[in-house]
Amino acid sequence: MNSTSPLLQTELTRRLGCRYPIIQTAMGWVSDANLVIATTNGGGFGFLAGATIEPAKLEDEILKVINATGGSNFGLNFHMFQENAMQCVELAIKYRLKAVSYGRGPDKETIGRLKAAGVLCIPTVGALKHAVKAVQLGADMITIQGSEGGGHTGGVPTTILLPQVLDAVDVPVIAAGGYSTGRGLASALAAGAAGIAMGTRFMMTSDSPTPQQTLERYLAVQDPQKIRVTLAVDGMRHRMVENAFIHKLEGASPMRKLWIALSSARQWKRETGMTFGHMLKTFFKAVKEDPAQMSQVVMSANQPVLLQRSMVQGFPDEGILPSGQVAAAINELISAPDLIASIAGEAETCLEALCARANGQALEEAS
Ligand SMILES: Cc1cc2nc3c(=O)[nH]c(=O)nc-3n(C[C@H](O)[C@H](O)[C@H](O)COP(=O)(O)O)c2cc1C
Repeated sequence: MNSTSPLLQTELTRRLGCRYPIIQTAMGWVSDANLVIATTNGGGFGFLAGATIEPAKLEDEILKVINATGGSNFGLNFHMFQENAMQCVELAIKYRLKAVSYGRGPDKETIGRLKAAGVLCIPTVGALKHAVKAVQLGADMITIQGSEGGGHTGGVPTTILLPQVLDAVDVPVIAAGGYSTGRGLASALAAGAAGIAMGTRFMMTSDSPTPQQTLERYLAVQDPQKIRVTLAVDGMRHRMVENAFIHKLEGASPMRKLWIALSSARQWKRETGMTFGHMLKTFFKAVKEDPAQMSQVVMSANQPVLLQRSMVQGFPDEGILPSGQVAAAINELISAPDLIASIAGEAETCLEALCARANGQALEEAS
């Protein structure tokens, strides 16, 4: 589908300069240059996962997308706890990327610098109070992620969080958590959202770098209850496909958990070149902010490494499988451009039917 129906033109398409109000979110080890290129070419808007791209390769990855798509109409995701967070900020400014996304975000001053350079700031939040705070700090748009979404996720479902945030903020709101269809896009637009953002659905495409054995595990899940929240990985709510590894982690003694966490931290340090000083700084900062976070900080080192085992090396039972519940409703891998076109087409049909119904009623009332 190449038409750009006015029904699908929103603040999101206007400000991000994409054809359809559909965002491919950042997913660690998944949202690489190739996936972002496929999304951009399909008319969507893609985010590179800056948290898992080696700092030395980040600029090349950005240039790869720029060269393949002929512009900077894509985004970069990062989190302030990354050692190279400021590198992400500087590169986004240097290449005038269209947007950045983040969870735990930068301070007001850094957000101001990004905005002054024309880089839109689009944080993802899982709770109403975080949306309000993010707007106070300068967010240009907000992505809300309902609890059914993949990876780190809050406790409020999309159908509750979206209207709450739409009522509370005066910037465009993007809906995430549970989307995979045109019906979903139509419902989000009808509610007042500027578009949808999807992680799981883009991970389950033929443009995703995720190994086949791992994708097959995602395709095999039929029961949304098997895609559940656990705190065992890094102490935070993390939604993933239940597997042997999660059972092992949840059943481990505190000492065993600490051992797993410390080994992961060592491996992560080796792979990212993270300095010992930065590890200590992050650790003590967290302890100062909230001593209860100590074990969480040690455990947070688990995530990238455990993700790598399943999502890069292709051992779905030896690592974690972050996923939204929507994976249980996805049965095939199609390309990202085909996915975007089919979602846009179905949404357009739904919205046209809605308009036709309203027009029919108006005519009936007038006659
Ligand atoms: C495999 C996977 C990895 C993810 N990694 C990240 C990440 O590194 N950073 C981030 O901000 N969000 C991450 N997320 C969350 C997504 O960006 C997105 O917000 C979420 O998937 C939306 O919900 P959905 O899965 O229902 O589409 C991840 C999600 C998945 C499924």
